[in-house]
Amino acid sequence: MFTSTVGAPIHADKVDLNKDYRSIKVSPYSPHIGAVITDIDLTKELSQTQIEEVKRAFIQFQVLFFRDQKINFDDQIRFASHFGSLGQHVGVNTISKGTDNPLVRKFHYDENSIRISGENWHSDQSCAPFPPLGSMLYNHTLPPNSGGDTMFASTYAAYEALSDRMKSFLKGLTATHDGTRVFGPGTPISTHPIIVRHPESQRLGIYVNWDFTSHINELPKNESDAILKFLYRHIGRDEWSCRFRWEENSIAFWDNRCAQHKAIWDYWPNVRSGFRVQIEGSMSPIPG
Ligand SMILES: [Fe+2]
Repeated sequence: MFTSTVGAPIHADKVDLNKDYRSIKVSPYSPHIGAVITDIDLTKELSQTQIEEVKRAFIQFQVLFFRDQKINFDDQIRFASHFGSLGQHVGVNTISKGTDNPLVRKFHYDENSIRISGENWHSDQSCAPFPPLGSMLYNHTLPPNSGGDTMFASTYAAYEALSDRMKSFLKGLTATHDGTRVFGPGTPISTHPIIVRHPESQRLGIYVNWDFTSHINELPKNESDAILKFLYRHIGRDEWSCRFRWEENSIAFWDNRCAQHKAIWDYWPNVRSGFRVQIEGSMSPIPG
């Protein structure tokens, strides 16, 4: 009989946080995804050791959270650029808006908003041939009395909790990620493997999402619909997700290759406002 498991917690596999992280403080946020980074000032240039340790934490925890960082565009661009070249949104009709800096987008919602970005579980722009490696959102204004949390889910933990039978069924299948569903005509449509190998951690994860994935290419529509429905619900399960509560001047920095996220719009007509940059991807997702 198959017994469901959520796998080993990320910070229990012989990781000594005090020994591995000397220049920053790393506090796990939930058993399977997320860490809060403190003892760091993102308004200043970081030391080489700090950069290396933040990079290590990013790979280990999939999403990093920072508090009390009152950064400007230059600070955000400087910090994010340590992880790769900054890229631009591939969507044609987007809810987020550009700024006077082509690398920075404005994510602002208020009483006039009809929709917000990212209300379904997704990884950013998975419709691109080379999807963005990571996204870094800074929020300077939050609704009073909380609201506007973002949820994050580990696609590693979701994969590891599948039965061996389901893992072998999904291996080798591919899915179509159709950007026109979200961002309109002219937005890219790409095919990616359903099970992917993270190029740095080498861990396997599930790479389909509610927003962009239209169908599994090798299956008839009714089978594809049923499998995708199962996978979407499975990825978003409480057991391997976390809910980040923003404060003014918080930052969330997530790895689109192994994490999905979902914005919660529970604060209308209040204002939530910030800026996002994205780190360009340099490759298509690797089959797992
Ligand atoms: Fe998103």
